[in-house]
Amino acid sequence: MAKTYNIAVIPGDGTGPEVITEGLKVLMAVSEKTGATFNFTTYDFGGERYLKTGEVLPDSAIREFRQMDAIYLGAIGHPKVKPGILEKGILLKLRFDLDQYINLRPVVLLPGISCPLKDKGPNDINFVVVRENTEGLYTGVGGFLRYGTPDEVAIQESINTRKGVERCVRYAFSLCKRRNKKRKLTLCGKTNVLTYAFDLWERVFYEVAKEYPEIKCDYAHVDALCMWMIKNPEWFDVVVTDNMFGDIITDLGAIIQGGMGIAAGANINPQGVSMFEPIGGSAPKYAGKNVINPLAAISAAQMMLENLGEQEAAQTVESAIIKVIQNHLKSLECGKMGHTTSEVGDLVAKYIRSA
Ligand code: IPM
Ligand code: MN
Repeated sequence: MAKTYNIAVIPGDGTGPEVITEGLKVLMAVSEKTGATFNFTTYDFGGERYLKTGEVLPDSAIREFRQMDAIYLGAIGHPKVKPGILEKGILLKLRFDLDQYINLRPVVLLPGISCPLKDKGPNDINFVVVRENTEGLYTGVGGFLRYGTPDEVAIQESINTRKGVERCVRYAFSLCKRRNKKRKLTLCGKTNVLTYAFDLWERVFYEVAKEYPEIKCDYAHVDALCMWMIKNPEWFDVVVTDNMFGDIITDLGAIIQGGMGIAAGANINPQGVSMFEPIGGSAPKYAGKNVINPLAAISAAQMMLENLGEQEAAQTVESAIIKVIQNHLKSLECGKMGHTTSEVGDLVAKYIRSA
């Protein structure tokens, strides 16, 4: 029986609303095709609301989100708001309060996309980064001492709990097994310098590994991994890492899969409500121009469908994205696609309807 899903939609700042409009268009096409119903509730959290009312993200909204089946987010970040207020107050608050402890970021080069790496193609770039999403340097533990004086001290602690590391590592092993591709899990760390945090990660990693004899375990320091991602991306299958390193390597991942126009991510609470977003940010200088590439947001919608258990619909969306790239787009880059934002959304929706 076709299902009904309650989805919270947070278009957010900059180009967020434009790309989310296209994502919703695509989901409506999916709905016509599969009979699944989506009840969208839109929330205007973001820079504009903050500047008008001073409100960032109230706890009452978090309570409402807990009742939803998923959250679909555009982008957070506004040029007139001091960095950190919206990012921490909205995006990180959502990830933390809803305990979305996995940030899943596929790095997949779809057919038809020209790869910036010489001699590499879709067969070489197909891995997933499992980024821990609730701990590390992101928790905000720390502070200033003697603020503003010549003796000032600034401390920002990386928090790594046994529980937090273990649930993330377990997720990565289990995903690697389910993917059933190279069956290789790479821990990305910095055991040669961060000898406490990554000692814990490493111990947990090899302990959990004993339960997965079929998975090959691999380790790389984060700096070396950046190099391998460019030189030999085909080595990777699943990479697991902490919050900060995961943030950094997934921007690198985004560029080798064709750029921010296509890169999507999922903030997952396997037992709760998950959130899906393009990872590119709010790109304020392109806002309102109908030039931004909506495919990342559409891919995020695809990840949402997968997570909701609508595998077939997710497949249809992916095939439609590939057709649009192969048959219509000159480039994935903003302003160079040869089509407007809304035309790209229309094209994806058209291929879904005719699938
Ligand atoms: C991301 C972003 C965020 C992060 C920022 C906006 C807080 O860069 O989702 O990767 O660092 O996690
Ligand atoms: Mn980032």
